[in-house]
Amino acid sequence: MDNFNEGSEMSSGKRYPAVFSTLNVGQIKLHNRIVFPACQVNYANTDGTVSDKLLDFYTAIADGGCGMIFTGTAVVSSDSVAFDRVMRIDSDHCIPGLKKLFYEIEKRGSVPAVQLIHYGRQAVNAVTGFDLLAPSAIPCPVMSEFDPNYHVREMTINDIGRVRSDFIEAAIRAVDAGAKMVEVHAAHGYLLNEFLSPYSNYRTDAYGGSTGRRARLITEIIEGIRTRLGSRVAISVRVSGNEFVDGGLTPPDFKEIILLFERAGMDMLNVSAGVYESMERIVPPVTLGDAPHVNIASELKEFATVPVCAVGSIFSLETAESIISSGKADLVAMGRAQVADPEIVRKSASGRETAIRKCAWCNECTFWTTGDPQMYCSVNPALKRENGGESNEKIT
Ligand SMILES: Cc1cc2nc3c(=O)[nH]c(=O)nc-3n(C[C@H](O)[C@H](O)[C@H](O)COP(=O)(O)O)c2cc1C
Repeated sequence: MDNFNEGSEMSSGKRYPAVFSTLNVGQIKLHNRIVFPACQVNYANTDGTVSDKLLDFYTAIADGGCGMIFTGTAVVSSDSVAFDRVMRIDSDHCIPGLKKLFYEIEKRGSVPAVQLIHYGRQAVNAVTGFDLLAPSAIPCPVMSEFDPNYHVREMTINDIGRVRSDFIEAAIRAVDAGAKMVEVHAAHGYLLNEFLSPYSNYRTDAYGGSTGRRARLITEIIEGIRTRLGSRVAISVRVSGNEFVDGGLTPPDFKEIILLFERAGMDMLNVSAGVYESMERIVPPVTLGDAPHVNIASELKEFATVPVCAVGSIFSLETAESIISSGKADLVAMGRAQVADPEIVRKSASGRETAIRKCAWCNECTFWTTGDPQMYCSVNPALKRENGGESNEKIT
């Protein structure tokens, strides 16, 4: 297997020079600009540790030439384990499996990264077994429909301190296990997004009200990670640049937010869109067309000095090349395209575009809408229903 050495097909950069130009993010050097965004797949063992199936899933993408892989999402708090077989990073029992996972990704020339999550109000009590936590006791209109016992509680200052510490301790575990980047998940309506947004944060104390106060928990987490880990880790923050809900965040709001995040120590901004009430923005369907959110990333890039990653229905390196070379973003995340064909980067780099197994854009991978227990793909034979399922022997 070619690695990213001088002269290999991956480093020639002839076909897609912008995509294959190197980039420094914090202390990390990326060999190309294609990222695998965090995708919760529910392939972990039941205790949240890394299974063989999870390892196979990510190593295939690393073998395929992706520049950086966000594993996870990984749960930072034991009161927010919102799915069976979701990856966890809330205790040291997760470290051995993560060590193997990050080692195998790095060995293949890709940068191992992990996304850190607390689900906040976007979960159900029936699964977590705990009160759902949120900045304000406002039920999630989507999740509250699913659970008659749905109950969300406004976080106390003690709760906030504990969750802040959970994120920081999780980042330390990630780095101990070999991750080079951690991503603070402040997008898609989960807990940190709920704090950031006037749509879901009605607090009147130090964590609500002005933009700085709504951003405070996130900036404290970034500062805490930086203080404890120094330059051993690069920090990405994922945001929904437009929540697509009335009264929610829109691009101009990020002028101040990005400044605050950068001052706190953010190294990269990962720009997605949507919350559960605007679910179609999180994993955009065919009806929204190609790359519907690139302009949101480019608007936020105007406010940023750190590299910015764009995402959303970007299915070819040709599109990625045009986004990066036109300066709309510095990196491009391709999720479903790499789920459908983990070799898309390598195949494109060597001019074998016709051999790429294309994403069908059917969104059957969105297991939370299909009712499946885990992610399946309708075109990747390794991830089809008949080769997956809860009894899959590869889950150990
Ligand atoms: C099965 C699946 C799981 C996802 N899980 C996460 C997640 O855990 N965290 C996250 O930030 N985004 C998650 N996403 C969103 C993706 O990271 C990505 O932003 C989205 O799929 C759009 O990119 P794409 O068009 O390249 O697939 C998920 C998407 C899919 C399809």
